[in-house]
Amino acid sequence: MRVFITGGTGAIGSYAVPALIAEGHEVTAMARSQDKAEVLRRQGATPVGVSLFDSAELAAQFANHDAVINLASSLPPPARFMLRSAWSECERIRTRGSATVVDAALHAGIGRLVQESVVMIYRDGGDRVLDEDCPVEHYPIAAGNHAAEASAARMVDSGAAAVVLRFGLFYGPGAAHSEQIMRWARRHVAFQAGRQQGYMSSIHLADAARAVVAALECPSGVYNIVDDHPVTREQHAQAIMAAVGCGAFVTAPGRLALLLGDRATSLTRSLRVSNARFRDGTGWKPRYPSVWEGYRSMAVTLAARGSASCQ
Ligand SMILES: NC(=O)c1ccc[n+]([C@@H]2O[C@H](COP(=O)([O-])OP(=O)(O)OC[C@H]3O[C@@H](n4cnc5c(N)ncnc54)[C@H](OP(=O)(O)O)[C@@H]3O)[C@@H](O)[C@H]2O)c1
Repeated sequence: MRVFITGGTGAIGSYAVPALIAEGHEVTAMARSQDKAEVLRRQGATPVGVSLFDSAELAAQFANHDAVINLASSLPPPARFMLRSAWSECERIRTRGSATVVDAALHAGIGRLVQESVVMIYRDGGDRVLDEDCPVEHYPIAAGNHAAEASAARMVDSGAAAVVLRFGLFYGPGAAHSEQIMRWARRHVAFQAGRQQGYMSSIHLADAARAVVAALECPSGVYNIVDDHPVTREQHAQAIMAAVGCGAFVTAPGRLALLLGDRATSLTRSLRVSNARFRDGTGWKPRYPSVWEGYRSMAVTLAARGSASCQ
């Protein structure tokens, strides 16, 4: 297929572009700087400089493509994560940007859209396994995700295909927050936000990228992209400590994170999410069935780059 991708230079995009090319797709990717354009070229993609908010120019660039993959976003850095104001650019990208992508895709006659979203929009499910039919919640920082999903639905209303991928928490080399958590682990600090028996659903970037490729072939719909075995927060922290081979002397921020309410809810709510619909619909299967295997592999990769020992 001829595929146009936005966000191809981000954490998941850096895995998705090579994965698409390896499967024989022709990839055009949005590039916002010369440096990023060069990286894309080296991966075998064709970079183009175009704004996410310019519908006419986007439609011109989309022409002659079979599918558009929208992974653009601008999550705040961890230090500013708790500030509502830090989310405004991300919200603009997901709300206006995603709407502009759909306007342009419809104008250019694109047959298929793949749109990223997150599992953190499900209500806290406690121990219950959550599938795509479970209720979602409209808390403030999720507004952009809901808007992006609504834009994707417009493709289907117009007779095209649209696949929404609700990703679990990303981790792996290149996912900055998971590299930071691993650095803390080497200093004997275990990261756990919220109740230790609450569930987390994660996905290694390599498996998330393989899901993006599989989404080019699956029926329209909403799909959860998480690994096979969600773990409790306590087990998640243990998996990271085991991967780096260090003991945990301190756990942070723990239940204190609950005091932040809505602003930290994407990290603190209990999400035991099922990937059955996407697995059954596409044959996709995560290479890392749980964080136990995934963090072990990540630690090996980072160790090869020279940051291995406990401090
Ligand atoms: N991190 C997680 O755990 C997680 C979990 C589930 C879902 N997701 C979602 O999955 C998506 C991809 O995440 P990621 O971790 O790959 O994000 P990322 O590393 O921050 O990458 C963001 C991408 O969007 C591009 N971008 C930023 N501002 C833009 C703008 N104004 N116009 C066009 N493109 C722009 C960036 O381009 P440059 O490279 O030029 O900056 C980059 O390619 C995000 O929407 C994220 O919220 C993330």
